[in-house]
Amino acid sequence: MNDIAVFHKKIGNYLLYLKEIGIEELPFQRKVINARLQGSSYQTQVADNASLETCNLNLESIRVELGDCRRCKLHKTRTNIVFGVGHPHASLVFVGEGPGEDEDLQGEPFVGRAGQLLTRIINAMGLKREDVYICNVVKCRPPGNRNPEPDEIAACRPFLEKQIDAIRPKIIVALGTHSTQTLLNTTEKITALRGRFYWYRNNIQLMPTFHPSYLLRNESKKKEVWEDMKIVLKALGLKISEEKK
Ligand code: URA
Repeated sequence: MNDIAVFHKKIGNYLLYLKEIGIEELPFQRKVINARLQGSSYQTQVADNASLETCNLNLESIRVELGDCRRCKLHKTRTNIVFGVGHPHASLVFVGEGPGEDEDLQGEPFVGRAGQLLTRIINAMGLKREDVYICNVVKCRPPGNRNPEPDEIAACRPFLEKQIDAIRPKIIVALGTHSTQTLLNTTEKITALRGRFYWYRNNIQLMPTFHPSYLLRNESKKKEVWEDMKIVLKALGLKISEEKK
């Protein structure tokens, strides 16, 4: 028998052994897809279709694992789980706090007034919603749009982390205090943190900025958010159009 045949036989025996002890399925390793930016254009679609499907499958499998989630009390009052939307391998991910009323009804993040403002910010960056990925720290609406509570954040956190692992973005924009504090494991305020990059798990740059809902109440802060987005665009290697400088 040659080396390869010996190797196959060994694997075969090992699989039979696993079957005997009751293991019928094995996880497969996800392909690492390099969908990073190329040159100065936002190339989200460099993965071939097969790898993109693998990536979709990965997000889908996370959604399947989430299931009809009852891991925290938010399930009692939600209409829909709001998982996330956008490019499955976006270079840029926006993470909000939790769904509001419109999002709860439609099952899609950032579709209400704050969402429309976020869409305008994304468009002003020269991007479309489909180019980026948008999700929240908690996937179910906190009643009356209250802040998500620590036990709710803790229950949802593994799913957010898995989404980020599946997408492998270059940059995360954390929208508001709860998103920033959750992702950076800090209790610092957004006002102290925004405007500079931090590392999320040592390999993804994270920019904290004000939440669009806050901007709706504090128009003057839009300037600061735009400054933050310009830093993000530069890090992505994207041009800022003259009139938007
Ligand atoms: N605010 C959020 O934090 N997320 C949404 O999806 C909508 C509003």
